Parts: sequence; C-alpha cells; structure tokens
Amino acid sequence: MSQSLSSAVPQDRKPSPKRSVLPWNGSFLRPYRGKVIAAIVFLFIGSLAWLSLGQGVRLMVDEGFLRENSERLNEIILLVIGITALSSSAIFCRFYLMTWLGERVSADIRLKVYDHLLKLSPGFYARLRTGEVISRFTADATLLQSVVGSSLSMALRASVTVVGGLVMMAITSLKLTALVLLAVPLVLGPIFFFGRKVRELSRKSQDRVGDLGAYVDESLHEIHTVQAYCHEDRDRQLFFERVEAVMEAARGRIKYRAILISLVMFLSILAIALITWVGAKDVMSEAISPGELSAFMFYAVMVAGAVATISEVIGEIQRAAGATERLIELVETPIDIPVAPTPLSLPSKVRGELSLKQVRFSYPVQASADSAEGMEAQAGVEVIRGLSLNIAPGERVALVGASGAGKSTLFELLQRFYVLDSGVIALDGIDIASLSPQLLRQQYALVPQESVIFATSVLENVRYGRPNASLEEVQAACVAARADEFIADFSEGYQTYLGERGVRLSGGQKQRIAIARAILADRPVLLLDEATSALDAVSEQKVKQALDVLMQGRTTLIIAHRLATVLNADRILVMDKGELIASGTHGELMQSNSLYREFASLQLLTEEA
Ligand SMILES: Nc1ncnc2c1ncn2[C@@H]1O[C@H](COP(=O)(O)OP(=O)(O)OP(=O)(O)O)[C@@H](O)[C@H]1O
Ligand SMILES: [Mg+2]
Repeated sequence: MSQSLSSAVPQDRKPSPKRSVLPWNGSFLRPYRGKVIAAIVFLFIGSLAWLSLGQGVRLMVDEGFLRENSERLNEIILLVIGITALSSSAIFCRFYLMTWLGERVSADIRLKVYDHLLKLSPGFYARLRTGEVISRFTADATLLQSVVGSSLSMALRASVTVVGGLVMMAITSLKLTALVLLAVPLVLGPIFFFGRKVRELSRKSQDRVGDLGAYVDESLHEIHTVQAYCHEDRDRQLFFERVEAVMEAARGRIKYRAILISLVMFLSILAIALITWVGAKDVMSEAISPGELSAFMFYAVMVAGAVATISEVIGEIQRAAGATERLIELVETPIDIPVAPTPLSLPSKVRGELSLKQVRFSYPVQASADSAEGMEAQAGVEVIRGLSLNIAPGERVALVGASGAGKSTLFELLQRFYVLDSGVIALDGIDIASLSPQLLRQQYALVPQESVIFATSVLENVRYGRPNASLEEVQAACVAARADEFIADFSEGYQTYLGERGVRLSGGQKQRIAIARAILADRPVLLLDEATSALDAVSEQKVKQALDVLMQGRTTLIIAHRLATVLNADRILVMDKGELIASGTHGELMQSNSLYREFASLQLLTEEA
C-alpha cells in the first residue's frame, strides 16, 4: 500500500525558468495598457500628494506652531485637507483600476488555459489527474488575481513611496538621509533572500493543494463505491495524509514569511530610532529646524511603513510567481496530436471508406514517479500489432474478440485520439493524420462502451452532437432509440435534469440516450462499442431495429459480445491480442476459425439458456 501511496503523490516538478513568469503575465496586461497606464498615473498622483503632506507638517511646525501664527496655521491645515482629498481620489481610481485588472487578467488566463486544455488529448488526461488540473485552474488563477489586484498595487505604491520619501528626506536633510541609506541594504537583503525561499516553498504548497483537489474529486465522485466497500476510514486516513502534506508545505512558507516580516519591522524601527537620536542632536545644535526634523521623521516613518508593506506583499507576489509557473506549465503542454500545417479537406459527401495499413500502436506509459520528468511518457506494450483492413463505404462490420483484444482501442485510433507508432489509417483514401482532428471526428457518431451523460437536461444531452437541432428532431431521435418511453415518464420530460454523470438514469436508459445522441448526430460513419449491452432483451430488440435503419447507407463498425448483433453484419472480424486473425461471414468463420467457433457456441448456449 505504501508503494502505491508514494507513487500516487507525484514528485515536485522542476520549476520552469523564472524569467518567463513576468513576460507571461505582462502579455495578459498588454490589451489593457490604457488602464494600466491610468492606474500607474493615479498611483503617482496619490503617492506624490501623500508625500507632499510632509511639507505640510514642516510648515505647520515651523511657521504655524512655533511662531504661534494661528492664521497661517489655518491656511496650512486647509492645504493639508486639500492634499488629502486629492490623494484619496487618486487612491479610489487606482484601487478600482488595479482590482479590475486583477479580475480581468485572471479571467483571461482562465479562458486561455481552458482553451488549451480542450485541445489536449485523452492521453494527457490519463497522465495528469483532472482534480489537479482543476486546482491549478481555480486556486492558482485566484491567487494570481488577488496578487495583480491588490498585492502588486500595494507593492508599486510602496515602491513609489520609498523612492519619493527618500528624495524628500534628502531635500530635508542630506546627512540624515545618508544615514538612512546605510540602513537600506540591511533591510532589502532579507527581503530578497527570504522572498525567493517563499516562492519555492509556495510552489510546493500549491502542488500539494493540487493533490488534495485530485483526491477529493475522485473519492467524492466514486462515493457509491467508497461507501459500498466501507472505505471511509481508509479515505479519511489517506485524505488526512494529504492535508498534512499541504500543512507541512505551508509551514515552511509561513515560517520564512514571518521571519521576513518581523525582521524588516525590527530593522526599520531600529533605523528610525537611531536617526531620531542623531536628528534630535542636530536640532539641539540648531543644524536643522524642528519642522525639518518633524518632516524628516514623517518621511522616515512613511518609508519604513512602505518597506514593511513590500516585505509583506513580496511573499504574496512570490507565491503568485509560483502559481504562474504552474499555469504556464499547463498552457505550454505540447498538444500531443500533431496537426498538419495545412490540413487537407474531405469531399463534401464523405462515403465512409476506411482503410488501415500495417497499423501498430502502443499506449504511452507514464514514466515511474522517481524519474526526473514525471510528465514524459514512453511507449508500452503493443496493443495493435500490424493491423491491415479495408472497409467499403456503407459496409456493416462486426468486431469480435476477447476482452482486451484492442477493439475499443481501434475506435480510438480511427478518431485519432492517439498517434500511431507506425502505419496509416485513411478515410475515403485520405490519411487521417493530414486532416484536422475536428473535421475527422465530425465524420463519426460514437456510442461508447460506457455511456457518457452530462449534468444537464435530456434535451441538451441528446443534441450534444448537433446543438442546433430542434425539439422535434431530438424527439424523433429519442423515439428511434426507444428512449421516449422512459422520458415521457419523467415529470419534466425533455427538460428533466439528469444529474452529474447521469446518476438519475439506469444503465440501459443512459445507453439509449447515448444512442439517441448518435442517431441525431447523423454522421457518415457509426462506431458502436457494445451499444446495446446494457439493455434488456426486449429493448435491445427494438433499439436494434432503430440502429438497422440508421446503419443503412452508413459505414458501421459494431463491437459486440452477442451473437445476435454479429449475425446481421456484412462481415465479421475476429481480433486477438491486437491482430486480425480472421474475417468473413458467420457461416465462413464457423467453418474456418476455432476461436470464432468457440465464441459462437458459448454465445448460443447462453442465449438458449
Ligand atoms: N488508456 C489506456 N492506457 C493504457 N492502456 C490501455 C488504455 N486503454 C486500454 N489499454 C490497454 O489496451 C488493451 C486493449 O484494450 P481495449 O479497451 O482496446 O480492449 P477491448 O478489446 O475493447 O476489450 P473489451 O472487450 O473488454 O472492451 C488492454 O490490454 C488495455 O489494458
Ligand atoms: Mg472495449
């Protein structure tokens, strides 16, 4: 068990080069450069107004307070209020713009990532768990949003305050500023050192959160099996371990951030205290005025506060950099089904002639967890071994063979969900590798071995392959698939919500919806993978009649374990261990092939029984 556990938790991947993070985020900001510039302008207005308050303080002390000039004091107070109003308005605009940009950028990143995810092949999803993808999608993009929207804006504002504050300090007193500058490297050193640590650890921690997501996703989806086998305690334990792994990864990050923040605070206040001490001596010796010292202190505190802010948000920004790396990794996953640079097109009327020449194929195998490149895949055992086959337009071909012979795999290959190791598959004489995968897949209507139902209404489920089909067309397809009988019993008919993965349907009902979907899709080639296996004998008989009508004029490949289905075919192909070992009609195969004879006689026995 410990073996399988350790392999279930992927190794931390090598972080991608960090220079790519900034340009990548920048590319999402580029379309909104007007807003970005406006935000920066408001940032400067706000900060400069804020900085000029220090001069107000100086005037207040030197000209109003110390000279006991109350009229001047009133003027200065009004000036201060005016400046504050200006800086507050600028803050409003900056805050609004920056938060808006944060939301917008993360929305755009989600759109881009999702768009890319849709292009990745089933092989990719066999390697990476969908729960983890979802976590990257939500948690990482959310982190990025909060950083662009608030932390980044805080950091920018603080940086402007630091620079501006230092300039104003230099104007006020060069000597004291020189002292401050001595302290700056002391404060910046830890910011950069610990900031980098936080980024590394934060990536690790987001990876662990991804594991968590993947685990919850799987166990809750399979809650039936979890409860039926009383696996809850074990799940609790396994989940606990993953939660603790998240905690563990977070602990390191929190430690470094806490050290960072407290150290910067301490060093800043220490520097201020020392400078006050020196400054107070200067006032006593009348080298500077009390107002100047007040203004200087005002700036020093402001700068220290800004430095503290930077040290706090830099950890957050580094976290976002870690999250960005994970998103970049997803977006840069190469699309493993290569598309020809100039895809060929099909004739307007596809005849549905299929030919396979010496097709060899093995599923990619995930590299073992301890190898460096966890995402790389290598070829495994050959599942299709040198298969050659010609199917005429409109022919009805049945595929029989033992479980694991490679029948469903053949369907996957026809639709080009995987790349062949060698050999050619052609549709109407055109190599499918030179077609765009979308165009190719539009030629097939598939009823898969495991019916797929989406969490939406009957109507939407049936018209999945033809979203613009009318209600009448959907109803006609459902009547043909013998699905209308049970749909009529639903309280909301075709609008009935079918539940996630169709949990509110029986196996046979799901299958009939899947058949209705294929009927409605109306494609030149039909791929039926045990399309009627979950039906009772009566419904099967009726659905078969519907399928017979559908098959007319269409090339059809039927995978079947039942003799009755096979008998109707023009030709029967017998597959064994990835090879085609015989082909012919039922009568011919009964004569020539022992494997088929065995299949047929056992089937007849069970059917008679
Ligand atoms: N996604 C996959 N990744 C790796 N190996 C796979 C994958 N899918 C199937 N296989 C392997 O390929 C072989 C052929 O599987 P396939 O699903 O094509 O069999 P089948 O003939 O359809 O069997 P059945 O009648 O049970 O449906 C099996 O040995 C299986 O282990
Ligand atoms: Mg199969």
